[in-house]
Amino acid sequence: FLPTTLKSLWEKPPCGSVVDVHGWIRSLRKSKNVCFAMVSDGTCQQPIQVVATPEQAQLLSYGASVKIQGKLEISKKAALGKQQYELLAEKVDLYGKVNNDYPIQKKNLATEFLRQHPHLRVRTAKQNDLFRLRSDTLEGVRSFLAKSDFIETNPPLLTSSDCEGAGEVFLVTPHSKKKDSTNSSEFSNKDEQSPSFFGTPTFLTVSTQLHLEALALGMSRVYTITPAFRAENSHTSRHLAEFWMLEVELAFIETMDALAGVVEDLIKYLVQYLKKKGYHREHWNHLMNEWHRISYTEAIDILKNSGYTWHDPPAWGNDLSSEHERYLTDVYIKGPVFVTDYPASIKPFYMKPSSNDTVAAMDLLVPQVGELVGGSLRKDSIALEEVPKGLEWYYEMLQQANTPHGGFGLGIERLLAFLEGNATNVRETIPFPRSSGSIFA
Ligand code: 4AD
Ligand code: MG
Repeated sequence: FLPTTLKSLWEKPPCGSVVDVHGWIRSLRKSKNVCFAMVSDGTCQQPIQVVATPEQAQLLSYGASVKIQGKLEISKKAALGKQQYELLAEKVDLYGKVNNDYPIQKKNLATEFLRQHPHLRVRTAKQNDLFRLRSDTLEGVRSFLAKSDFIETNPPLLTSSDCEGAGEVFLVTPHSKKKDSTNSSEFSNKDEQSPSFFGTPTFLTVSTQLHLEALALGMSRVYTITPAFRAENSHTSRHLAEFWMLEVELAFIETMDALAGVVEDLIKYLVQYLKKKGYHREHWNHLMNEWHRISYTEAIDILKNSGYTWHDPPAWGNDLSSEHERYLTDVYIKGPVFVTDYPASIKPFYMKPSSNDTVAAMDLLVPQVGELVGGSLRKDSIALEEVPKGLEWYYEMLQQANTPHGGFGLGIERLLAFLEGNATNVRETIPFPRSSGSIFA
């Protein structure tokens, strides 16, 4: 009972038949005798060219939403390899027009401008393509994990702990509309009556890892694709306050090589998956070689010996800055690189020691974006004093038939920015970006 989509139309073009096409007019060319309209419905990259008479075209205008009934024919220009099919309009219906102040004008609009109109920018070809890439990427990720016996699960987003211990959490407080208020926009803070809804300070999760560990210690291989929230005041092209994270957790994994292997296989599989779906990016070809793996200590030595004058000089014990990451991926390795065995002092409580002063942590750094994945092997055993307050259940869990286990988190928006290339900002890869200082819709 649903109308035909352009995606299904292009899969098997019903040449010579009459079809209904629904969509928005992306461009319009009117002349005395004929009118050409490019109509897209967003289900695929390729729009359809509609050929209409001047009478029919009276209803058509740039941006408008339309239904067009017509005959699908091979275009006369097909031989030139240009427009293959066109729709000879027989009946034109208008759903709605855009106003004079419609911000999505035909000319190439700056991404910064479009960001201020997130509810409308999906009508541009560029954003439309990116959001479809997002959908196909999530599909590819799920396909890889399912074939590798991972179970998709759903840990909570409301939590009483800060998994990463970075203190960048959003606090959740109950608010409710005042019952006796006539002004519906007035809210009262229930906190005035009760200290907290849950009896303990509650946050939006920064990472679901700890709950995912609990689930892995019972189902062996689990993953979730979930929003994560961080109150980081970073105004960069790779930070969002609300982002989506793929988190993967495996029991019975004993080495960093095995953990890095899962990440490498996943991304390589994904690239092949997207290629099969018709996506192509020049820089993907360089991803198929074996990826480099270096230790944090080696990375610091490479940076120190680079001869560069750093804004932030590399020093053992400090986190790698974005300029350090960029040097490793874009200059030194010229490709993705896993950096392993970080100083224990700069990593969270749950990581397994790999020497006196390092832990079995792993970051995947990729060109242009920097850190794409963060993961580690988890502790075999833990003392109660090592566990942050409120996480007594985590201590208790590791007492009960713990196994070697580990996992990682991968930022979906960073993955998309990396796949898309061209210095894409994470704000363009998510439909409604949230970052400090800006919520436009
Ligand atoms: O390295 P992170 O902080 O690791 C964790 O949260 C682990 N608990 C994950 C795990 O082992 N299950 O975050 C993981 C990834 C980063 O590598 C990055 O890609 C992304 O999440 N990320 C962000 N993406 C966009 N905006 C932000 N503010 C991000 N913070 C982290
Ligand atoms: Mg990290």
